[in-house]
Amino acid sequence: MKKRSGKAAGVKPRTRVPLKRAQVVRSSPLQAVFLVGFMGAGKSSVGRALGQQLNWVFEDLDDRIERREGRSIAEIFGNSGEAAFRCAEHSALVQLLEELRGGGARIIALGGGAFVQKENASLLKAAGVPTIFLDAAVDELWQRCCLQASKTGAERPLLRSEKQFRELYQTRRKSYSQASTTLQTGGRSVDAIAAEIVERLGLKRIAIRQEQGEVE
Ligand code: S3P
Repeated sequence: MKKRSGKAAGVKPRTRVPLKRAQVVRSSPLQAVFLVGFMGAGKSSVGRALGQQLNWVFEDLDDRIERREGRSIAEIFGNSGEAAFRCAEHSALVQLLEELRGGGARIIALGGGAFVQKENASLLKAAGVPTIFLDAAVDELWQRCCLQASKTGAERPLLRSEKQFRELYQTRRKSYSQASTTLQTGGRSVDAIAAEIVERLGLKRIAIRQEQGEVE
């Protein structure tokens, strides 16, 4: 076995260079995949399928926000406004990344606006985690959201008129494309999309799932 101390014969002892705090805390990369994209992109459905294929825990960041706040996303928007929601979203993400540093493999679906906020995108970049932009034609995204609203009564505060929906998508698209990988989801099954993520990222199924932190 190789000696790590540099005290082997003939090797000059090295001067100790103090490590910065960040280097000490993170010795291995976080085992996590973040799904980003607009409303209706299928982040949660693909995330669940991916979690099942890999035996990794799936978490929807919006669920964590609701638990922490003790009210629904629609209530946060309605009673406190979007700026308050963005603050809650950011601190939920900070908390989640802190948990991931403690171990465990997780798939996370971010809400449609989370990755657009520069401070969130920077946090994820600094953490070195893969971010997957799930994209589709805006017509299809709109159709999916309308179908979900009529089928499940899902409330999305930013799902207003079709015109606003299209404009918001156009405004955000450039930010989403900063993700490490982009996948087109149009007309494809969630299982097929999840399988492509596994293959493209070379992800490995784990034998024993570590239930840790706040999960679905
Ligand atoms: C939002 C999208 C929602 C939710 C919130 C804000 C957005 O999540 O986070 O209503 O800004 O696009 P989904 O993308 O899961 O609908």
